[in-house]
Amino acid sequence: MGYDANFRIWRGDIEGGELQDFTVNVNEGEVVLDIIHRLQATQTPDLAVRWNCKAGKCGSCSAEVNGRPKLLCMTRMSTFTEADVITVTPLRTFPVIRDLVTDVSFNYQKAREIPSFTPPPGLKAGEYRMKQVDVERSQEFRKCIECFLCQDTCHVVRDHEENKEQFAGPRYLMRIAELDMHPLDVAERRDSAQAEHGLGLCNITKCCSEVCPEHIKITDNALIPMKERVVDRKYDPLVWLGNKLFRR
Ligand code: SF4
Ligand code: SF4
Ligand code: FES
Repeated sequence: MGYDANFRIWRGDIEGGELQDFTVNVNEGEVVLDIIHRLQATQTPDLAVRWNCKAGKCGSCSAEVNGRPKLLCMTRMSTFTEADVITVTPLRTFPVIRDLVTDVSFNYQKAREIPSFTPPPGLKAGEYRMKQVDVERSQEFRKCIECFLCQDTCHVVRDHEENKEQFAGPRYLMRIAELDMHPLDVAERRDSAQAEHGLGLCNITKCCSEVCPEHIKITDNALIPMKERVVDRKYDPLVWLGNKLFRR
């Protein structure tokens, strides 16, 4: 059975904007993205929204629903009551382009700053050998669909534009952790995670893990182990002695 739902949608651009009220029909089984599409078809043909797969796999329909970072295509209307007013706003951490579409290029910049997988020099393809346990450890991180909901929710940058330069955000700290766990990666990851990518700014609140649509345990399985390895390195007596002797 259909019903009329009350929506408040943010409309505007980088110059500013406001919430606009709409009443729109909802049918059984629909998600918030269906309602946005119905609005475009019937009331607001110029409402901007980014989407591609409508299956929770492309990561492009990220926005905030009632202030929570969500994929619009995976947020079921059945999670609200018929009396609820549903507010849809763009991701708060990134600059708005128009309406529900934000400029997420911050994330691409951070991705570029991380050196790619670096196997030992001279190791030929086919000579790579890994234990199954090492393969499985990073498997979880590779489920990431780059929706940037974790980047949006992290309080280090959410209301702190000034931290963006020095903080890669959970998605990219997780990428550094993944590479650091890789038994064949020989690039230096630990010092740079701390000094260049802001690992120390993360205070393991786990908010990033809570919003991840892929249910990746970003904090428990990537950020905390990475922090532990950084601390181990700092307080390892042999490393300390080596630094004293060779890094004057
Ligand atoms: S655990 Fe760290 S990276 Fe994740 S939201 Fe909290 S501060 Fe940000
Ligand atoms: S880690 Fe999760 S929340 Fe973050 S970008 Fe990847 S899929 Fe999205
Ligand atoms: S449209 Fe692809 S994840 Fe929502």
